Amino acid sequence: MRTLDDLDVKGRRVLVRADLNVPLDGEKITDDGRIRASVPTISALAGAGAKVVVCAHLGRPKGQVTPKYSLRPVAGRLGELLGQDVAFASDVVGDSARGCVESLQDGQVVLLENLRFEPGEESKDDATRRAFAERLAGLAELYVGDGFGAVHRRHASVYDVPQLLPHAAGGLVVAEVEVLKKLTQEPERPYAVVLGGAKVSDKLDVIANLLTKVDRLLVGGGMAYTFLKAQGHEVGRSLLQEDQLDQVRGFLDEAAERGVELVLPVDVLAAVTFAADAEHEVVGATAIPADREGLDIGPRTRELFASKLADAKTVFWNGPMGVFEFDAFAGGTRAVAEALIARTGEGAFTVVGGGDSAAAVRRLGLPEDGFSHISTGGGASLEYLEGKTLPGLAALEA
Ligand code: 3PG
Ligand code: MG
Repeated sequence: MRTLDDLDVKGRRVLVRADLNVPLDGEKITDDGRIRASVPTISALAGAGAKVVVCAHLGRPKGQVTPKYSLRPVAGRLGELLGQDVAFASDVVGDSARGCVESLQDGQVVLLENLRFEPGEESKDDATRRAFAERLAGLAELYVGDGFGAVHRRHASVYDVPQLLPHAAGGLVVAEVEVLKKLTQEPERPYAVVLGGAKVSDKLDVIANLLTKVDRLLVGGGMAYTFLKAQGHEVGRSLLQEDQLDQVRGFLDEAAERGVELVLPVDVLAAVTFAADAEHEVVGATAIPADREGLDIGPRTRELFASKLADAKTVFWNGPMGVFEFDAFAGGTRAVAEALIARTGEGAFTVVGGGDSAAAVRRLGLPEDGFSHISTGGGASLEYLEGKTLPGLAALEA
């Protein structure tokens, strides 16, 4: 993969595909991690005298101009972090974008409006997507792919534009891929993976693949209830994907056959309703009352998970253990994060994979340098670990 060092950018218009898909509360950015992670590449290009044209998506506006998904607030924050003004184009490839790009001086930066306001960006029709990619590519002379969180999408800005312009991978993509390689090529053992999050259906492929690679697989979060049910336990009103029970039974059998230790919760915080202040109690994972739902792993599970990580040399964690957005149900996620931090201190290689788990680390006020790496891409990391070809990486490698 070519990197920034392979491009001569001085005085040239460089289109950077970044991932600036940050959570917003109105116009307030509630976690700027992805913007911070994008700064080094943009800053390096500006410092080298490029005219930097940044493009990115926010949310899923599905080809419609949707004001609440405007990237305008992100331009402001990006400017603060870069320490220089960032112009904002109020469209993607229209008059505003062309005008802004036209007036860029060497070392200046413009951010284009949300790529997904354009139906061509995500179109499944190759010709439609290619037509939009040509307009986008027409804004610049060179392309830098740095939106790691979106490299698993076959979108115009990720997959087609690098086929139209001389291109290189940005520093963030290079760093993320290096970490994923380390996780997939002879990881130091014991290798443990902690998976959480709401739906087991989002993680089927990664579980299937990990069962052939890891020594231990710890499952918490909403998806754990489908595992408990598959073992024959009642889970009350907890999240449950009935249609996945057969799959999950298959995973339990396969883990046993392969000698992979599959570790499930032994207790949970069972609440009467899904709310921040819901009345709740600790119950055994095999004794969840019919009228309650599990919203976090319990104290014995937190200890069990920590003990299963205590000698791990490589740990990958994706997905919260409970509803960490509610303080009362954040303890399980915090405990897993703290167990990883302890391992990092002992020299293990620890990786936090993606969106929600990365946001949880920051929301809980845990030190970001307590982990070997915090990925900016949840979906992208998982698809890499599944062994899939990621369109954005393939296009950059070509
Ligand atoms: C993410 O949030 O995972 C990335 O920005 C990709 O967004 P998407 O899942 O909407 O494609
Ligand atoms: Mg996502």
